[in-house]
Amino acid sequence: MATLIARNLKTLKKSLLGKKFRDKNIGLVPTMGAIHNGHLALVKKSTNLSHVTIVTIFLNPIQFNNEEDLKNYPTSLKEDIKILTKNKVDLIFIPSRKEMYPENFSTYINLKKFDNILCGKKRKDHFSGVATVVLKLFSLINPKYAFFGEKDYQQLVIIKKLVKDFNLNVKVQSVKTVRDSQGLALSSRNKLLSTNQKIKATKINKILRKITLKNLKSQKAFSSFFKRKLNFYGISKIEYLEVRDNKSLELYSSKDIIGKSYRVFIAVKIGKVRLIDNFKIGK
Ligand code: PAF
Repeated sequence: MATLIARNLKTLKKSLLGKKFRDKNIGLVPTMGAIHNGHLALVKKSTNLSHVTIVTIFLNPIQFNNEEDLKNYPTSLKEDIKILTKNKVDLIFIPSRKEMYPENFSTYINLKKFDNILCGKKRKDHFSGVATVVLKLFSLINPKYAFFGEKDYQQLVIIKKLVKDFNLNVKVQSVKTVRDSQGLALSSRNKLLSTNQKIKATKINKILRKITLKNLKSQKAFSSFFKRKLNFYGISKIEYLEVRDNKSLELYSSKDIIGKSYRVFIAVKIGKVRLIDNFKIGK
């Protein structure tokens, strides 16, 4: 069946009441556009699990704490629609900022956990903006499943907590990070990298993959060792490089390593492009 496109709330509501969506298990894939194979892995999982799949494309201004970053975020709407149509998405929802956040919009999710570490430390209100828009999309679309990539692992943890704390009737499904042939985690922001910057970016995964539980004798020694390695390849703007518990996101303790499952988290800037990555180590 043809892919429907809803560019406003009225069309979305009308479509959801139609035969195609009524009483169906809806899979939701929220995106900010600049669709790549990472998004398509979410779409694929959704089409396998759900009766119908809705992808949203909305560059959510309230999750950006920097105007410049928002302005430079890659967009490719025409191409996105083409790709999603080809991948048999049932509906693409492309709301306007005005409709999502009318002038008198004043209610935001305030996170008491997980948002003052890692990406939340420097990006004030970022996760409040993410949680607010995701809750809004859940309430507009009422999906049975919602799909998020492990690439944004902190976001995934926060959304799972949002669903739990608000008793939402949505099953959050995670999908493993999709990487290119060099191991670089796919991200819309990769489109902003020059060829040389991309070569640099591939070093992140190559170097950090060498981290094992044995390296974690002390957080400081481990991070300075690997930061020096990254510096060697010209990656010097490292916002954070940390190892945290895979579930609680607590910083790991060097006394308590064996049998645990941890995750390495990194955020760097290459030129003006901010990149993040993470992967599991241990059990
Ligand atoms: O991961 C993203 O692309 C965004 O943070 C999300 C979940 C679509 C919310 O704007």
